[in-house]
Amino acid sequence: MSRRIGVITGSLRRDAYTKQIAEYLINSAPEGIELSIIDISDLPLYNQDFDESPDEPLSYARFREEVASKDGFIFVTPEYNRSIPAALKNALDIASRPSGKNVWSGKPAAVISASPSAIGGFGASHHLRQVAVVLNMPVVALPEMYISHVADAFDGSGNIADERLKSLFEKFLEAYSKWIERF
Ligand SMILES: Cc1cc2nc3c(=O)[nH]c(=O)nc-3n(C[C@H](O)[C@H](O)[C@H](O)COP(=O)(O)O)c2cc1C
Repeated sequence: MSRRIGVITGSLRRDAYTKQIAEYLINSAPEGIELSIIDISDLPLYNQDFDESPDEPLSYARFREEVASKDGFIFVTPEYNRSIPAALKNALDIASRPSGKNVWSGKPAAVISASPSAIGGFGASHHLRQVAVVLNMPVVALPEMYISHVADAFDGSGNIADERLKSLFEKFLEAYSKWIERF
């Protein structure tokens, strides 16, 4: 049975590097996992007053249903000021509520961070791992995926220019495939 995995990118930017990574993963998924993007760009800022209120934005229900329908998640995020972008934190918060209805819970996850700089979004990756703990999402440990100098990673057609990076993504997908089998 194929596992249905949601891929969530932390960037809303049209030409985001993290979206390119997400597309690359979708096109390279091994047998047994089916990857698709879950869009977070239409989610208004979470407000606890919305919980079970008729004023709740309609996009919240769509997003929560999509999250609930998946068997796991791959997060591909940039780093904003040494953390995750607010849009991604907002999405994580929305699907964790109302209290007692956390639809992330128990779903195996993986984190990839990327940056045009040398550090590769290390800070964002670990802030996201911290949030995943309380959401009860077990995150695969290795390989650690801090993609530095991401601006040089792809050619213009969505192919990875660097063979070592290509092999790292292969290892990552293999490790994540094994990880989800444990849950
Ligand atoms: C508000 C903001 C804060 C940023 N902070 C960091 C940072 O802490 N570390 C870093 O490596 N890059 C930082 N950057 C640069 C991003 O890595 C860069 O814009 C990257 O292209 C964003 O990812 P994307 O291409 O997927 O949108 C920041 C960018 C923005 C807009």
